[in-house]
Amino acid sequence: MSQEKPLVLVTHTLPAAWLAPLKEKCRLMIGPEGGKGLTPRLEENLPEAEALFTLLVDPITEDILERAPNLKVVSQMAVGVDNLDVEACTRRGIPVGHTPGILTAATADLTWGLLLAVARHIPQSQADARAGRWTTWNPTGWLGADLEGATLGIVGMGKIGSAVARRASGFGMELIFTNRSPRPDIEKDLNAQQVPLEDLLEQSDFVSLHVPLTEETHHLIDANALQKMKSTAILVNAARGQVVETQALLQGLQESWIAAAGLDVTHPEPLPSEHPLYAQSNCLITPHIGSASYNTRRRMAEIACQNVLAGLEGSKLPHSVN
Ligand code: GLV
Repeated sequence: MSQEKPLVLVTHTLPAAWLAPLKEKCRLMIGPEGGKGLTPRLEENLPEAEALFTLLVDPITEDILERAPNLKVVSQMAVGVDNLDVEACTRRGIPVGHTPGILTAATADLTWGLLLAVARHIPQSQADARAGRWTTWNPTGWLGADLEGATLGIVGMGKIGSAVARRASGFGMELIFTNRSPRPDIEKDLNAQQVPLEDLLEQSDFVSLHVPLTEETHHLIDANALQKMKSTAILVNAARGQVVETQALLQGLQESWIAAAGLDVTHPEPLPSEHPLYAQSNCLITPHIGSASYNTRRRMAEIACQNVLAGLEGSKLPHSVN
């Protein structure tokens, strides 16, 4: 392998086929499966690295960038980039790639999966059936919430929020939403109403979070917000764990400020197995699987590779955040 080829540090092991587009033009140094961040071996090679291929679990800090003077691109295989110091990259003229769009449908589908599973007690009823507690057709057993006619409040009407909203019409739900900027197009197209967050929390039967993690959205759903929600309401979070204050949510679920929650993301992440949220029968937790479908993850890797190659060539990235 020629030493002239640029060195790309891939923080974690991925299927070889997903990285195939890089093979010919780059030298790849690949990290382990699992874990967070760069291993010491990858860190040692930062001075020579021209590209970083990262996952959302990797903190890419000023310090790491400092040690990578030859870096031409950081390419993240995710849409969210809150683990990366984007400002520091921008200051150094390093483009940051991400994979928007491609995971919208999969994440919207998973959101609905969580919402339905929580509303209709699917995990608990399965556990009961398996454990021999399905002894009759029980007229009062496993009663859940209706979707038809209920109000769905979507917090953040970006790509994923609008995909979730579009799916709501099939369930005959009323739609309200918040967004940083006015979205009269969505109001018209989806027969939805844009409202302030406080009104959304008070009026929604289901609240689904679809904001990126920023300083403004950190702990957007705190004790105060949870107490504004209906006691029958269900909260769904498939965005970022830190948008919700974990301790407040735990208290809210324990003290029935709200009825239940479906979380694909948590803080911390992974949520340790002894965490009290797991003991809440009104909380369904999945391990950040929003984009986890075969085609979606493969295509995310494909876009991340395209971003690496463009960055190495000094061309505009197909998808960048800066
Ligand atoms: C997943 O959470 C992503 O940001 O791609």
